[in-house]
Amino acid sequence: MSFISVPPRYTIRLLHPKLTVLVAALVNEHHVNLMTAAWCMPVSASPPMIAISIAPRRFTHELILRNREFTINIMSMEHLKEVHYCGTVSGRAEDKLSRTGFTLEKSSKIRTPYLREAVAALECVLANSVRAGDHTLFLGEVVEAHVRRGIFDRKYLIDRVDLILYVGEGEYTTTLKSTKKP
Ligand SMILES: Cc1cc2nc3c(=O)[nH]c(=O)nc-3n(C[C@H](O)[C@H](O)[C@H](O)COP(=O)(O)O)c2cc1C
Repeated sequence: MSFISVPPRYTIRLLHPKLTVLVAALVNEHHVNLMTAAWCMPVSASPPMIAISIAPRRFTHELILRNREFTINIMSMEHLKEVHYCGTVSGRAEDKLSRTGFTLEKSSKIRTPYLREAVAALECVLANSVRAGDHTLFLGEVVEAHVRRGIFDRKYLIDRVDLILYVGEGEYTTTLKSTKKP
């Protein structure tokens, strides 16, 4: 086995594929913006917390700082086209919610809704934010979680859902239809 050396800037690609989600944040009381994010991960089990890394120029960055809450919507391959679209256009330029045709479900603990088309959704309250190079790491406490019936039993039933994984350079893959224990 031999290695090739690659510039450290490829770190982001060497850590992919990554589960890709839609972040929903309120623009105002009646309007929600959607942004695609691959840099999202759990960081605490109790209390349940996630971290999401968002560049300051994104509309979503401004909206999360303004509202101090957001939802994370975990999507399946059925909506790959819409998920990619939400990652290529800013909500400052287009109404991504109406363009995708996604519909909203009222959250139980926060004002920001989640997507009915999601396979799972997390209601998050902003707990902290840390500048990390050219991104901001938002830490969110998960105050409520939802998952579609029939695809989850303490973990995803991996043969019943094809989650979206981002590889990089506009390429996606999906979760395998089988799992293995080491
Ligand atoms: C698959 C994919 C994953 C992305 N992941 C992130 C991410 O984790 N953080 C980020 O700041 N931008 C990410 N982006 C870029 C934003 O989604 C994109 O700039 C979007 O248009 C910003 O929307 P907004 O201005 O409405 O917030 C990603 C884009 C794609 C296509």
